Amino acid sequence: MLNIALPKGRLGDKVASLLCDAGYDCPTLASGDRRLTVDDVEHGVRYIWVKPSDVAIYVERGAADAGVVGKDTLLEQSPDVYELCDLGIGKCRMAVAAPVGFYDDGARRLRVATKYPNIARGYYMKKGRDIDIIKLSGSIETAPVIGMSDVIVDIVETGQTLKENNLAVTDTVVEISARLVANKSSCKFARGEIMKIADAVGKKSDLR
Ligand code: PRP
Repeated sequence: MLNIALPKGRLGDKVASLLCDAGYDCPTLASGDRRLTVDDVEHGVRYIWVKPSDVAIYVERGAADAGVVGKDTLLEQSPDVYELCDLGIGKCRMAVAAPVGFYDDGARRLRVATKYPNIARGYYMKKGRDIDIIKLSGSIETAPVIGMSDVIVDIVETGQTLKENNLAVTDTVVEISARLVANKSSCKFARGEIMKIADAVGKKSDLR
């Protein structure tokens, strides 16, 4: 059995549809199925549903041979895995946003609220801007609204959350989408099986 770690939630539903379209039997958690491991015996695949930010850890440690993870998580965690292909789903962008009308005069350290401290640090380091990172786990948009931060670095998909909180994008850091990743040893020992899935769901990048 090839173990594949999949992200629970919004992205997971899209991944399950993609796999089903490619002929793989992958029931979604959204359909009411609460099993966290599901076997597709016909294709020799076991799906493991995990928290999106944990997928890369499962794959890096070999608990999963492959997995689907957002580029945001890959950039933030830099896991030691192969990134096989872009799945073209879960498209959004990592952006800097601030209260409408905010102007950074550079007079003091910029307070940046984010779930992605490494990405934010890298972005501002390139700009040579001194920042104070405020690491949060969610509801990032609240920070500038209540005055805890000046800006945020966060995922923007439709832009609705920003709009409803009177915030606006000031810069795009990087475009994001879901990627198929694989464990490095598994790519040696189960290359054929992994490539079959990569062929079915996306375009390969660094295995060829
Ligand atoms: C994400 C992100 C934004 C929102 C953006 O939050 O952190 O808050 O989605 O989506 P939009 O541009 O379509 O409004 P998520 O729903 O993952 O919840 P979180 O607050 O736990 O991060």
